[in-house]
Amino acid sequence: MFNYQKNKKLIYAALMMTLIIILGMLPAIPLGFIAVPIVLQNMGIMMSGSFLGPKYGTISVGGFLLLVMVGLPLLTGGRGGIQVLLGPTGGYMIAWLFVPLLIGISIKKLEQLKLNNFYLEFVFVIIFGVLFVDVSGSIWLSLQSNMPIDSALLSNLIFIPGDLIKAFLTVIISRRLRYKIGVIS
Ligand code: BTN
Repeated sequence: MFNYQKNKKLIYAALMMTLIIILGMLPAIPLGFIAVPIVLQNMGIMMSGSFLGPKYGTISVGGFLLLVMVGLPLLTGGRGGIQVLLGPTGGYMIAWLFVPLLIGISIKKLEQLKLNNFYLEFVFVIIFGVLFVDVSGSIWLSLQSNMPIDSALLSNLIFIPGDLIKAFLTVIISRRLRYKIGVIS
């Protein structure tokens, strides 16, 4: 039977995956002292969770990572393949898979408790979309390139200002879209 709501959410998940791919077409900013660039693609990952919620957000990010894994050049700079996922930036991408789940569940909980406002949502997007990703990425980077963990964590501080701006824009855009379209689930 045709399930309109379910199909609508799947279409939004596909659109979100497309947005993540488009953000990957914008050039990265390489940093000389660390093998991890500044990218915009992680804003699409944050948006998946806050706009689509845990289930459909994970479908969009999981689908994107699957395409990258089979070798499509969808990561910033036109990269793809298992070897990229196992490279210095692999930890960020593994963390990306869990971001929609964590952000989506937090927003749903806030809604259940009637506590959902811009600031609390922003806090959760920072915790799971920025700090969780940057810490996971640092741990992986440290193991992968034999860098002391404190140096890896310290060098990741360079991402925080930009990632905070991305988190802020994510919450503004997602809240507008969510209340207009109402697809979180
Ligand atoms: C890749 O394309 O290989 C993944 C890049 C991961 C970059 C991380 S995501 C969190 C942090 N913020 C950035 O702008 N860059 C790093």
